[in-house]
Amino acid sequence: MDVTARNVLGIKSILGTELLNKHQIQQILDCAFYFKAIRNTKAPFPKSLAGKNAVMLFFEPSTRTRSSFALAAKNLGGNTVVLTKEASSTGKGETLLDTARTIEAMQPDVLVLRHPSAGSPHHIDRALAIPVINAGDGFHEHPTQALLDLMTLKEFKGNFAGLRVLIVGDIAHSRVARSDIYALQTMGAKVSVCGPPTLLPPQIEALGVTAYTDLRAAVRDQDVVMVLRIQLERLNPAQNPSGGEYARFYGVSTETLKHCKPDVLIMHPGPVNRGVELSPDVVDGPRSVILNQVGNGVFVRMAIFHLLTGGEALHEGTMV
Ligand code: CP
Repeated sequence: MDVTARNVLGIKSILGTELLNKHQIQQILDCAFYFKAIRNTKAPFPKSLAGKNAVMLFFEPSTRTRSSFALAAKNLGGNTVVLTKEASSTGKGETLLDTARTIEAMQPDVLVLRHPSAGSPHHIDRALAIPVINAGDGFHEHPTQALLDLMTLKEFKGNFAGLRVLIVGDIAHSRVARSDIYALQTMGAKVSVCGPPTLLPPQIEALGVTAYTDLRAAVRDQDVVMVLRIQLERLNPAQNPSGGEYARFYGVSTETLKHCKPDVLIMHPGPVNRGVELSPDVVDGPRSVILNQVGNGVFVRMAIFHLLTGGEALHEGTMV
């Protein structure tokens, strides 16, 4: 059966925000806000995943993404099976594609994949009939992170049009930066990036962003400062700045906030290296919405499970 024919998004899989249009992003956000409104009233969630199974292949560590996908499925009455790299037969020489085909033979309804190789969900998606959700592929994309970031921005800032968002840090190795740039631009925000020259990709401005290397100049007039972790696991050692030196030039601290708009929002996808890219007082301070982002991750992932498996379009005010 053609999965796209029976889902309102008109797409089989969520592989990246580069592939989502404004209407599809809006549908996912509307549905996520619907689920959040239900949670706030303590009413039961619709069991749109009842009798359905999601297999989650997590071949890289994760706290937020893995647990929120699991909670999202459970909230909707579905089941999850998690397979890590260590627990799978890939260690015996099985390829990722053979692993995915083997899983599909057991007839789950959806597959969630986190993998260190850029493009791996796209490769799997071409071979499988079931929907595939990219939970982070190397330094390529992390679409559900960008969607939960958008949900949080919508809550705190209202509109995307003209919103000025600065992404600070290791832009070159960040799948979050790439997914946020695509999604924010699709929704009408103005995106800038800032980082050491070694951690800014060449030709980054071809993506339509303004690039800075001076943090103080970059933060001025921004509505949102989204801070990223240095992806040490993806850097070659020659690119690796010392933590102290990095914090001095690119760490966001209370001193940095003096150069920001008073109502600036501080975001971070997590995990945070306190004292490196963000000072602890900013992480825990009044401008930080980091834990709001985490909480919204459950609702965005519920929305994606619901919509990709054939659920109807939902928005606040919809009765089910
Ligand atoms: N933001 C994010 O992907 O966090 P985890 O690696 O903990 O899932």
